[in-house]
Amino acid sequence: MGNQMKWVFATNNSHKISEAQAIVGTNLNLISLQEAGIDIDVDETGTTFEANALLKAQAIFELTGMPCVADDSGLCVNALNGAPGVYSARYGGEPVNHRTNNDKLLTEMQGVQDRCAQFKTVLCVVGLPKMLGGGSELYEPLFFEGVVAGEILTEMNGVDGFGYDPLFRPEGYEQTFAEMSAEQKNALSHRGKAFAELIQFLSLTFSEGSVG
Ligand code: IMP
Repeated sequence: MGNQMKWVFATNNSHKISEAQAIVGTNLNLISLQEAGIDIDVDETGTTFEANALLKAQAIFELTGMPCVADDSGLCVNALNGAPGVYSARYGGEPVNHRTNNDKLLTEMQGVQDRCAQFKTVLCVVGLPKMLGGGSELYEPLFFEGVVAGEILTEMNGVDGFGYDPLFRPEGYEQTFAEMSAEQKNALSHRGKAFAELIQFLSLTFSEGSVG
């Protein structure tokens, strides 16, 4: 796979675009909404990660006509019946604030024994076959998923990353995501795994050079 074809990554979050570009390396050439000349915030009205990722990918593809990849991610805590889940960004209320989200999570988890949680990402790709002249069966949106299991700590540790990273320690590790380098986090993260699935799909489906 080369990197000639540009894909729009449907996010306004500059941290996420640089994280995603670091994950995909030269396999995909991702551009932000801003670089694509688009200034919209798609309403995430879905109740699942899949529905929200599809809403974003579809909307941006319709505006740009370029292959588009959108992600929807969140933290699902077992003892909270999967919350905050799709509502992770605004868990602590409006406006979106990582500190208030973490504070609310700590409050909700006070005294709770079962600390198990998962970060989950769903990627949705729209517009790929149109650009490649691929088979009609591929006109359907494509979905790729990544999950990482871990636990919620009782206090925040680390200053790197974003969101709930300081409270999330992946299974088998001593450090939280916020204490890891970007490379370490990307190698195990939900987003890293979902993009790895996408890249594997592309390399299996399309011959060398045709993906872009
Ligand atoms: P998004 O759908 O990827 O924008 O994620 C929604 C929310 O989930 C973010 O605002 C964060 O609160 C949380 N989240 C998603 N991915 C991560 C991550 O890698 N680390 C920490 N928090 C995350």
